[in-house]
Amino acid sequence: MASITIRNLDPEIKEALRKRAAHNGRSMEEEARHYFAQMAAPLAPLPETPVAASVTVSDPSSQTLAGKRICLIIGGGIAAYKCLDLIRRLRERGASVRPVMTNAATEFVTELSVGAIANDIVFSELFDREAEHDVGHIRLSREADLIVVAPATADLMGKMSHGLANDLASTVLMATDKPVLIAPAMNPKMWDHPATRRNRKTLQDDGIHFIGPRAGEMAESGEAGYGRMAEPLEIVSAIEQLLDDRPKPLAGKKIIMTSGPTHEPIDPVRYIANRSSGKQGYAIASALADLGADVYLVSGPTNLSRPHGVNVVDVETAREMHDAVHQLLPADAAIFVAAVADYRAASEADEKIKKEKGGINAIALTENPDILASIGNHKTKRPHLVIGFAAETQDLIKHGASKLKRKGADYIVANDVSPDTGIGGNTGVMGGDRNRVTLITKKKNDAWPEMSKKQVAQELAALVARQLVTTKV
Ligand SMILES: Cc1cc2nc3c(=O)[nH]c(=O)nc-3n(C[C@H](O)[C@H](O)[C@H](O)COP(=O)(O)O)c2cc1C
Repeated sequence: MASITIRNLDPEIKEALRKRAAHNGRSMEEEARHYFAQMAAPLAPLPETPVAASVTVSDPSSQTLAGKRICLIIGGGIAAYKCLDLIRRLRERGASVRPVMTNAATEFVTELSVGAIANDIVFSELFDREAEHDVGHIRLSREADLIVVAPATADLMGKMSHGLANDLASTVLMATDKPVLIAPAMNPKMWDHPATRRNRKTLQDDGIHFIGPRAGEMAESGEAGYGRMAEPLEIVSAIEQLLDDRPKPLAGKKIIMTSGPTHEPIDPVRYIANRSSGKQGYAIASALADLGADVYLVSGPTNLSRPHGVNVVDVETAREMHDAVHQLLPADAAIFVAAVADYRAASEADEKIKKEKGGINAIALTENPDILASIGNHKTKRPHLVIGFAAETQDLIKHGASKLKRKGADYIVANDVSPDTGIGGNTGVMGGDRNRVTLITKKKNDAWPEMSKKQVAQELAALVARQLVTTKV
């Protein structure tokens, strides 16, 4: 059997492998082994329905669904058991849930447990004398803000796409004038069947919203592929998005952002980095997306989940971040929150630098491109609004004001990241959940009180909206 030596690979391939390895926290050899193992695995068919790219899990205490009424239709599939968790998560966020179960669904979970968790009556019969004295199926279909079908069986999807209404669930779906979200769940062969494919297409054309399915192991042993129902928190996230009726003043505005640290490689396993967590930048990206902006977040390596509704471009080094930002131009605004390394190693060792007697005297450094200055002073494609962050440990205002001028920014958001501010407890501002910032412009400095990073993000997003909406761009 042939063997491959990493040292003998083409330089470009070696470079690509190094980046993947660093990104995944593996050695180059491990990465290569992992890559070949993946190549040898059987190919999974691609889903034809759009699936959500990312999930941001909302905090239940934020009551994102307060006062919303959801009619949850539970179909007869194995994933029906997940509905108990889904109902709990929806109620935690302030929604009321009115369950409708198909007859098949009652074979998988009991009406008793669904009703107890929903704290409501479970509806399952179309010809129910009690419920139908005021045409209950029409009421169920109209009083909700949203109808959710989870799990959506192949059978229910077939009925929906053909306009059949021969039980309570399908009749409610036919009678409704509200948006409908379905979370399909079925065996991969059923999902891939030509009939289901046709039904999927019809339902998409009819404006039905989909979440999932996901790829993975099935309950049936030995079966894998697309067909797993999306997890309850993913479904919650999709529901939150569909029911979000807040004003969208930034709709149609493109905003480029950077966030997180950069990693500047020294050798295949070591890099220069900083303590930035990316939390402040991610919160701003999320707040801007909530106001309807089309946000492109160029992110250095972080452990954060991707903000919902934000386009994330992953990079590692300052040079990659610089190139990604420039490729994304033009834009209405650009906000630079990333803690970009000012310097990188002048040359990167091909192999891990070995410990030697006497040690290493020095690592030669060279300057990285200045991303904020390159955009703030851009001759032809400068966005209408350019905001930079300045993390300082001393002379906050002086350094911030000088940065504003040198880099051609409209605002500098300066924050003191020294541990002695007492903000953020043990972790400090970098890595913590709180921040205290001063907004520096040519005319004045505005010191904001200490607040959560989420609040800073919302205030800043509101400021961006005022700037972009009141000024003609
Ligand atoms: C053990 C078992 C598991 C099933 N799992 C699913 C499933 O995950 N998805 C699906 O579409 N059908 C599944 N079925 C088939 C449905 O239960 C069947 O098509 C039923 O008529 C669906 O009814 P409904 O759409 O009214 O809920 C399963 C059947 C059995 C016996």
